[in-house]
Amino acid sequence: MPAPSTKKPKKSLKVLFVTPEIHPLIKTGGLADVSGALPAALRELGTEVRVLVPGYPKVLAGAKNKRLLYTFHDLPEAGEVRLLSASLPGSGVPLLIIDCPVLYQRDGGPYQNPTGIDWPDNAQRFALLSRIGAILGSDASPLSFRPDIVHCNDWQSALVPAFLHFMHGKKAATVMTIHNLAFQGIFPPHVVDEVGLPPACFSIEGVEYYGNFSTLKAGLYYTDHISTVSPTYAQEIQQKALGFGMQGLLARRSNKLTGIVNGIDTSDWNPATDPHLVQGYDAGQMAGKTANKLALQEKMGLKRDPDIPLLGMISRITQQKGGDLLLEIAPQLLQENVQIVLLGTGETVLENGFRNLAHAHPDNVGVTIGFDEGLSHLVEAGADMFLMPSRFEPCGLNQMYSQRYGTPPIVHATGGLTDTVEDGVTGFIFSPMTAKAFLASIHRALATYRDKQAWHAIQHNAMTRDFSWKKSAEDYLALYKSVLSPES
Ligand code: ADP
Ligand code: GLC
Repeated sequence: MPAPSTKKPKKSLKVLFVTPEIHPLIKTGGLADVSGALPAALRELGTEVRVLVPGYPKVLAGAKNKRLLYTFHDLPEAGEVRLLSASLPGSGVPLLIIDCPVLYQRDGGPYQNPTGIDWPDNAQRFALLSRIGAILGSDASPLSFRPDIVHCNDWQSALVPAFLHFMHGKKAATVMTIHNLAFQGIFPPHVVDEVGLPPACFSIEGVEYYGNFSTLKAGLYYTDHISTVSPTYAQEIQQKALGFGMQGLLARRSNKLTGIVNGIDTSDWNPATDPHLVQGYDAGQMAGKTANKLALQEKMGLKRDPDIPLLGMISRITQQKGGDLLLEIAPQLLQENVQIVLLGTGETVLENGFRNLAHAHPDNVGVTIGFDEGLSHLVEAGADMFLMPSRFEPCGLNQMYSQRYGTPPIVHATGGLTDTVEDGVTGFIFSPMTAKAFLASIHRALATYRDKQAWHAIQHNAMTRDFSWKKSAEDYLALYKSVLSPES
């Protein structure tokens, strides 16, 4: 019999991942996709992860195996608050859900009411998320799960590092990920006191941001390490053009700032098995792609024709995403035989611009204003090319989905788009951010599309590129370890 090992079993790293949205329970954008996939990929690497999320109705309804863990009795935001354990449908990742009906049980989105207005108590709603994140990362935690790292995401969880900073005893280290610097959690100065932070922290060396309180600034200031979702964006946010006023702080902390590109969930986004498609396909067997194109044309009320180049776009229709640039070039573009399909919601003026465009070109332009997960998969599969003229893009996921679906993306040279698309190899990159350059890149793509052999080569390169989370999750794990032992 072998002698019993004297080695201690290797302790796995423990991470509390704090997020305001998570796929497949609640989603407004890419942060949900990341929160639904990165924790699962970290688990594959042996990390012990719990994901802390607010108990919105959809979260409570969709989460599996819910069980009461603990009741907090005297939290400043809401008095009694229940903490539930549960698991994420699909991957089974363990969840911790904050069940606080007065703050989270309401119709509407996670940040806005049904008419699109921000909830007036968002400061309290997300201070609670952060407060519980901080408690669970400290000696005051009622749980036996004690994280080494609390990983915060965007302004909604950015008060965790600030709360932890002012707590005593043993505490977890923090990583603060910026998914989008444009959203900064800005509230009037008196909110600092309301969320229970000391008045002295309302200073440039603290949570103050141009006379207001910014929860994101608080996170960036107090966290042990900052990360963002692509290496190029990590550079861009240190400069004035895309720094949204935080460039000084970010440049000063640049030795604590890392860019790690997102991956994609390759089981959710797999054209061979995707249940939202009318026919599956892969790089070796592309016939199914045409079936999806015809289905998409039919669904959007367009002329059914496999040969007309079909340009797809799925996005929040905001200044960031450059929908206005597409509206600007559309009259000229539509003089050629092309079709455009857009799925999105956002700014009313732009939404109306797209509605009018579809009205004027019923055979060639199909527009769905709304959020439709199933249709988004069909657009990725049915379009020939994917448009992403973003003014800035921290990472962007659709350009990766589209590559995997053999739908080469046409993207502006910015942020994660630069880091994930290879010009002329897996897609098309344009610069500068002008209508002229955008149109020229579409013409370049259309010329390649007419050369079937060249087009198939681009599709093949795009579809076989590895966008899985494994490499990015390894980078996060290495980052956590370096934060925990900075000298090694
Ligand atoms: P962002 O998070 O800035 O909106 P990303 O490209 O990172 O941009 O992620 C957007 C995610 O949201 C993708 O999964 C995309 O398919 C999805 N999405 C955006 N708008 C819609 C919509 N109207 N319907 C369905 N899915 C959408
Ligand atoms: C943000 C960014 C987007 C990124 C996503 C997930 O919403 O706008 O570029 O892909 O977060 O990190």
